[in-house]
Amino acid sequence: MFKGALFDLDGVIADTSVYHFQAWKKLIQDNFQQDLPSQLEEQTKGVSRADSLQRILDYLQIEVDTAKFQQLMQQKNEYYLQLLQTLTPDNILPGIKELLRELQQQKVKLALASASLNAPVILEKLQLSDYFAAIADPVAVKQGKPAPDIFLAAAGGINVTPQDCVAFEDSIAGIQAINQAQAFSVGIGSSVELAAADLLFAQTKELNLAQIETSYQQWKE
Ligand code: G6P
Ligand code: MG
Repeated sequence: MFKGALFDLDGVIADTSVYHFQAWKKLIQDNFQQDLPSQLEEQTKGVSRADSLQRILDYLQIEVDTAKFQQLMQQKNEYYLQLLQTLTPDNILPGIKELLRELQQQKVKLALASASLNAPVILEKLQLSDYFAAIADPVAVKQGKPAPDIFLAAAGGINVTPQDCVAFEDSIAGIQAINQAQAFSVGIGSSVELAAADLLFAQTKELNLAQIETSYQQWKE
């Protein structure tokens, strides 16, 4: 069995990735009276708050000064936190709780590798904090996803080498980050977008530990 499991949060553990995009949409509507096209959702998944805002502004060809940029980031987070107010363990995606329990039974160490500054609060609300031996701090890593830094930090947090870890992601940037960290990448989502994943499941409810372990062992050889 592999020794460590590294988890993305939004879109893997909980259905919060849709809230992120809802908050971005409202921000852009309120400030610039523009409708954010849905194709931008994929491009901002897994990407830090600042990098997401920059991508959105670049797409809309809007330039702002530093003060406005900071204000927009803060306002987006306020909208996001409002959406999180009603978050409960019911927002855990199907199959995830069972997977976390199985991993725990197999003595696999768990670490969180989320770019979100809100991750610790969300894990608390989902009542999942106790499963995780480490939460990588996105502030402490140099580069966000698609750079490997956050996954390297998460593996380091549980003292497991990345090659002995399986990592779970729903974003293009996240799969690139795992692959660069040289851990085994499990994608959850579309085979078009996540084609670079070592193993792919369409939805969290299809995650299967036996299948993951078999693929991981083949990959390791
Ligand atoms: C995750 C989400 C992104 C989000 C980022 C930062 O990676 O997938 O959509 O931009 O976290 O989240 P934060 O809660 O710190 O704004
Ligand atoms: Mg995600």
